[in-house]
Order: sequence, then C-alpha cells, then structure tokens
Amino acid sequence: MSETASIPRFAVVGNPISHSISPGIHQAFSEQVKIPLQYHAIEIARDDFENGIQDLQQQGYSGLNVTVPFKQEAWALCHRRSPRAEDSGAVNTLIFQDDGEIAGDNTDGVGLTRDLVNNHHALINHRKILLLGAGGAVRGVLPALLALSPEELTIANRTMEKAEQLADDFRNHGEVTPCAYEDLGRDKFDLIINGTSAGLNNEVPPIPVEVLGVNSICYDMMYNLNSDTAFVEWAQNSGASRALDGLGMLVEQAAESFFIWHGVRVDSKTIIDSLRQ
Ligand code: ATR
Repeated sequence: MSETASIPRFAVVGNPISHSISPGIHQAFSEQVKIPLQYHAIEIARDDFENGIQDLQQQGYSGLNVTVPFKQEAWALCHRRSPRAEDSGAVNTLIFQDDGEIAGDNTDGVGLTRDLVNNHHALINHRKILLLGAGGAVRGVLPALLALSPEELTIANRTMEKAEQLADDFRNHGEVTPCAYEDLGRDKFDLIINGTSAGLNNEVPPIPVEVLGVNSICYDMMYNLNSDTAFVEWAQNSGASRALDGLGMLVEQAAESFFIWHGVRVDSKTIIDSLRQ
C-alpha cells in the first residue's frame, strides 16, 4: 500500500459541491493538531445518494460530511443516530464503522450556537429569538437553539404550514411560535437568524425593520467569502447593532465533526480568523 493510501480519507458530499470550502477547513484542522488525513469534495447525483454513499464506504472512506440537498436522505440511511441527529431529522456527519454500519450525527446546531455564544458572545438564554425560514436548515438547528432556553422562539416563513409543522414537531423541546411575515413588526427581537435559502438568489426575506431594537443582532446562516450576504447588508442598512454571517458556524460544525471522527478538539477561532483574511 502506498503511503497516501494509508492516510484516512474523509469527504464532503453534496450537489453542487465545487464551491465547498470544507476541504480547506479540515486540512487546516489536520495541520493544527497534526493528524494526517485526506479530505475531498465529492458530487453525488441527486437521484443516486444511497449508491453514492455505499460506493465511498467500499472505497474505504472513514467518514463523510453531507450537505445540501442530502441531509434528510443521510438521516434515513443511517443504522444509528445520535440523539441530536435523531431529533433534527437531518444528518450532516456520517461515520463508517468497522462492522459496516453507518452512524449519523448532526453538528449544525452546535455549530450555530457555539459561533453565536462562544465567538460572538451573543445571548440566547432568556432572549427573544426570531428564526426566518422553516426548511431543512432551520430544522437542523432548532434542537440546539431550544436547548439554550430562549424566552421566545418565533419562526417566520412564507409557507405558514411549514412553520406550524416545525412548532408541532419540536414541542417536546420547547415552545415555538409560528408566524407569517405580514404579522411581524409588532414585537422587537434580540436575535434574528436567517435560515432561509433566499440569499442564494441574493434576496432577503420580507421582514419589516420594526423587528429590530437598538441592541438587536442579525445572523445569517449563509456566508460569502468575498462580499457581504444580502441579509447581512440588509441588517447593516437597517440599523442592527451587529450583522454576522455564517462562516463561523461552518467552521464550528466542521470542528465538531472533526471531534467525532478524531476525538480531538481544534482551535476553531484561529481558522475562522485566517479564513476572514
Ligand atoms: P434548506 O435545506 O436550505 O433549508 P429548503 O428546505 O428548501 O432548503 O428551505 C428553504 C427555506 O427558505 C424555506 O423556508 C423557504 O420558504 P418557503 O417554505 O415558504 O418556500 C425559504 N425561502 C426561500 N427563498 C425565500 C425568499 N426569497 N424569501 C423568504 N423565504 C425564502
């Protein structure tokens, strides 16, 4: 066996995937803690997820990150799941086990809350939180947000039924109030998190500026490396006290996946800072 072949292999799978910066992040972790690994970005056909995963398992990959649009399919494929993955209905981290079984975890929620709380010193406990969107991205982070006991967690979505469904699905974790965008504006929120995919089209969800108070923080779960996201730009222009993007969340979820695979904690802040430069 060549030397490269014996180095454990990991990858992020998605479609599309060429834009992913996860390979660079995991390489940086690997150098920081001196654990050799290979980490690739692999596109899987949208209608062939299961075969794609089995193929990589047979090729000897040790684990995978899963991104859009496959997180729910990854959940369904796992033989066992961590409680946080079980709850969120989505898996972003796969572990190929020696017995051939696939274990799944979800590190998105903890990635978001660690970035907010540890890196940005934003408070969630006893605060009023507004979450925009009710798709897979929001579902993935809801258990972690509710675990920090916000005073109020409102979900606004264009399609009300999806917000209502989330409130129902997560009622054992805490109270979630579904809300239409038209009904926002009466209350101010401490933290407004954009979990919609509107930014992919450079759009901003239709929220009134009245949701912002003098100390409100806006956080976009998306990021662009070379420019502000549309939501960050909206927040800056609308008087938010801080407008944050999701680069830190990406690094923190990667750091948690790295911990699951290697049992070692990395210094994620250094990597976030170097990516910002
Ligand atoms: P993801 O996995 O990224 O969450 P998704 O499950 O397709 O993707 O969900 C996309 C979310 O973004 C949905 O909440 C969607 O709102 P609807 O459910 O009403 O469709 C929301 N979304 C997408 N574009 C939007 C826009 N321009 N304004 C507001 N919400 C938008």
